[in-house]
Amino acid sequence: MEVEVGAPGARIEPRDSSWWRRAAIYQVYLQSFADGNGDGIGDIAGLRSRLPYLAELGVDALWITPWYPSPMADGGYDVADYRGIDPRFGSLEDAEALIADAHAHGLRLVVDIVPNHTSSAHPWFRAALADAPDGPDRARYLFRPGGAGDGAEPPNNWQSAFGGPAWTRVVEADGRPGEWYLHLFAPEQPDLDWTHPDVGEDFLRTLRFWFDRGIDGFRIDVATSLAKRPGLPDITPADWVANPAGTVAGPDHPYLDVEPVHDVWRAWRVVADACRPPRVFVGELAAIPFERVTRYLAGDQLHTAFNFDFLRTAWRAADLRATIDRTTDALHRVGAPATWVLSNHDEPRHLTRYGWPDTAYRDPALPLQGDPDLVAGRARARAAALLMLALPGSAYVFQGEELGLPQVLDLPDEVLQDPTWTRSGHTVRGRDGCRVPLPWAGATAPFGFGPEGSRPWLPQPASWAGLTVEAERRDPGSMLSLYRSALRIRREDPGLASTAFAWLDAPDGVLHFERDAGLRCAVNFGPAPFPVPDGAEVVLRSDEAPPDAPLAADAALWYRRP
Ligand code: NOJ
Ligand code: CA
Repeated sequence: MEVEVGAPGARIEPRDSSWWRRAAIYQVYLQSFADGNGDGIGDIAGLRSRLPYLAELGVDALWITPWYPSPMADGGYDVADYRGIDPRFGSLEDAEALIADAHAHGLRLVVDIVPNHTSSAHPWFRAALADAPDGPDRARYLFRPGGAGDGAEPPNNWQSAFGGPAWTRVVEADGRPGEWYLHLFAPEQPDLDWTHPDVGEDFLRTLRFWFDRGIDGFRIDVATSLAKRPGLPDITPADWVANPAGTVAGPDHPYLDVEPVHDVWRAWRVVADACRPPRVFVGELAAIPFERVTRYLAGDQLHTAFNFDFLRTAWRAADLRATIDRTTDALHRVGAPATWVLSNHDEPRHLTRYGWPDTAYRDPALPLQGDPDLVAGRARARAAALLMLALPGSAYVFQGEELGLPQVLDLPDEVLQDPTWTRSGHTVRGRDGCRVPLPWAGATAPFGFGPEGSRPWLPQPASWAGLTVEAERRDPGSMLSLYRSALRIRREDPGLASTAFAWLDAPDGVLHFERDAGLRCAVNFGPAPFPVPDGAEVVLRSDEAPPDAPLAADAALWYRRP
């Protein structure tokens, strides 16, 4: 298959296939970005109207979370039709117009795809429910008889990521309790059986459908878990092992990184490579050790993967240095670029996380650590932005981090939408606190997210009046101004263009490194101040101190070596 570039744009080089090696990619959580029609839900029209903002911010590409028709049991990660657009978000024509507009603004577009599971509203699953046990329509999913003699126990001990068993029992046509089906996530997200030929074929059609419409790549949801170990054996304690970034899958895990999953990505890569220009894949490869992540990135499967180790590392110089080294060493061996990410729609926002006593990744299932110190959190988030954007590779900015939005910790129970909340029996609040709609302008909600008088699907804190795009644009000391400067320099300065990277001598508590053309970055984690070297040309600082003032704790600096 040869696909010509679908939507030519003013600033896109059609033959440049390596943009993803150093791009700054902005994650648009569509329902919370901008609401064009005032129903309280962000949509494609809203996003189109804000493309000038994103171009001006200085990012190279957008990753859009799922926009397909969906009952929204899990924020759209429950897809009922992979080749359509949910009417809440707009139409297929709107999507095509967005692709063209984004390209015209010099922005590439990566869209989420969800191949591990469909929605329970997908026609395949409806047909499966209507079919008999062992019927052909059940074979695209993982239906199994229950255990414990009478079938009243789930087929194995796997747990859903959102709490409770990963199995739900169906009622058969004769009204009796029947087989169970597997859902690693919510019951509304039944897992597909990737050994069934229809499944692979249909996803190849979906890839071509969107590539023909000009999208530049896909972010692949749960890219570790499509293949399951035959017989679906119970999970044992040996299937989880400790590693520097937390607990990850052991070598015999029954559904994380099971060998045939690599065949899926090899087949997908052939489709992406046949396009002109070639398209790219970024994989969500969480909960497996980084050495195993690199197998996906060796050239015949995915292009890049999110670096969850970086996101999960505490705000400590030695820990971050170890993570950076581990990442770059492993990826260098397979020729893949690093990626860097501090926040996304599944994790507590890093400005808040860096204000908690334990600044490492916090599992949202853990109890809260009390009130965060948002002054420290903000200083660290500013320094972390300069660290992330100075590292070689690509970087992901989650919408709102450029405004310094904190996690919203006090959403009322009754507005919570994350399935984790109900699945955990109202004990784990889940991820809604990082998904609150963006504040654009004005002094009161909806802060320009939608038209005056509209009600965003999650309430925005009144305190966000000072964090709107409008307010921050006017303020040279704002988070937005810092991101805009850093992204502009990252794009224009030859010092950040290549992959050159070398650590420099530094006292304990300081990370100090040089990129190309004498461009250097220093990040001070404290406690001692770090003096700016004599004769240095200061390019950007994360704090408001005079250019040559010593760097205090929780501050970062870009400078050119004398
Ligand atoms: C990862 C996505 O980022 C998350 O939001 C979703 O709930 C799960 N995958 C299941 O699709
Ligand atoms: Ca809307």
